[in-house]
Amino acid sequence: MSKQRLQNAGAIIIAIGFLLFASGCKQPERVQTGVDAYSSFVSADGNISFPADFPNGYVFIGSWAVNGSAGVAEIHAVYTRPVDVSNFNETGKFLDGAVLLKEVSAVLGSAHTTGNASWAEEKKTWFLMIKDSKQRFQPNPLWGDGWGWAQFDPATKKQISTNYKTDCLGCHVPAKHSDWVYTYAYPALGPKGQATVPKDAVKGDHAKDKPDHASAVTGQGAGNNVAAGKLAFGINCAACHSVTSEGTGIGPSLKGVVGRKAGKLPGYAYSPAMSNSGIVWTTENLDKHLEKPKELIPGNRMGNVFPTGVQDPKKRQDILAYLQTLK
Ligand code: HEC
Ligand code: HEC
Repeated sequence: MSKQRLQNAGAIIIAIGFLLFASGCKQPERVQTGVDAYSSFVSADGNISFPADFPNGYVFIGSWAVNGSAGVAEIHAVYTRPVDVSNFNETGKFLDGAVLLKEVSAVLGSAHTTGNASWAEEKKTWFLMIKDSKQRFQPNPLWGDGWGWAQFDPATKKQISTNYKTDCLGCHVPAKHSDWVYTYAYPALGPKGQATVPKDAVKGDHAKDKPDHASAVTGQGAGNNVAAGKLAFGINCAACHSVTSEGTGIGPSLKGVVGRKAGKLPGYAYSPAMSNSGIVWTTENLDKHLEKPKELIPGNRMGNVFPTGVQDPKKRQDILAYLQTLK
């Protein structure tokens, strides 16, 4: 073989090699629109729908038992995707696209061979956070502080939050240093999650009230007085409402609310729906508002952040008895 032919043969081999290599690269090439690739349940403008596949493809990472006046009143079960767990275990962070889904259930309880045990009954709502460190969906008000935030109606699974700053953020401030997530309650996240356990956490049986289910009852059934109302207020209302004159939180202070005109407390930015409602907070109107926060004053913000209200009429009476003491 002459030198020239050798070179030619070499060139041909290189060319064939290159063709093979190039065709090897020709995997079905997906156009990354950024948004489709980001999440199948987030639209291009950042609207969030209920993940259609749930619970397929999700893992349970931990749960909360929330006490009412007579034992466990709600169970919150939290789910994420397996990839989000392994990323968190490795890096201590939620990476973009990570999903946290919290399912809130009412409970039933009764005496069991283990003691007074409660179990999850009908679903009250779902909350969802999806990690977004790139501000993909500005200025959509469901997005910010590193996450997309959503809440879903228990019956329709429709998204019902309107603004994460008013609907979510205030209540997540205690978890701000762990990217707004209460990671310590999720054993699956491992030691990096547990690093943020609150200092005042105490072991077991820390409820002041002892559960005492004689027969199957829905959570928080017992009691009809100011003390029971105060407890129920602590569970259902206090995260958003203070009872002192200074305190404005997610909702207005409820000091002196009985007999007050709706939407008129100075210093609180009410929705127009509430401030223009012309309603006076009689105990009757309060009872209606607490039963169905969306209905008495359509479009008011409490209807969005607390859509399920307080279903148990006795518990509403207890809360009303307590509200009347807040002069
Ligand atoms: C009344 C206060 C409150 C409001 C309002 C609230 N959260 Fe939470 N959220 C909490 C607390 C406290 C936890 C953990 C304890 C629990 O569930 O009882 C939590 C847990 C979660 C979790 C489970 C992961 C985690 O952070 O630990 C998700 C997801 C979540 N919330 C999303 C939302 C979204 C989205 C909104 C707004 C649409 C919202 N939350 C509004 C208080 C609140
Ligand atoms: C997750 C937050 C949240 C929870 C929980 C919540 N509220 Fe509210 N509440 C609000 C917000 C926000 C407003 C203001 C609504 C508006 O301006 O449209 C409000 C308004 C009210 C008002 C009207 C006050 C006024 O000055 O006109 C009353 C009364 C009230 N809430 C009672 C309660 C009671 C009692 C509970 C517990 C059973 C409760 N709320 C639970 C957020 C909440």
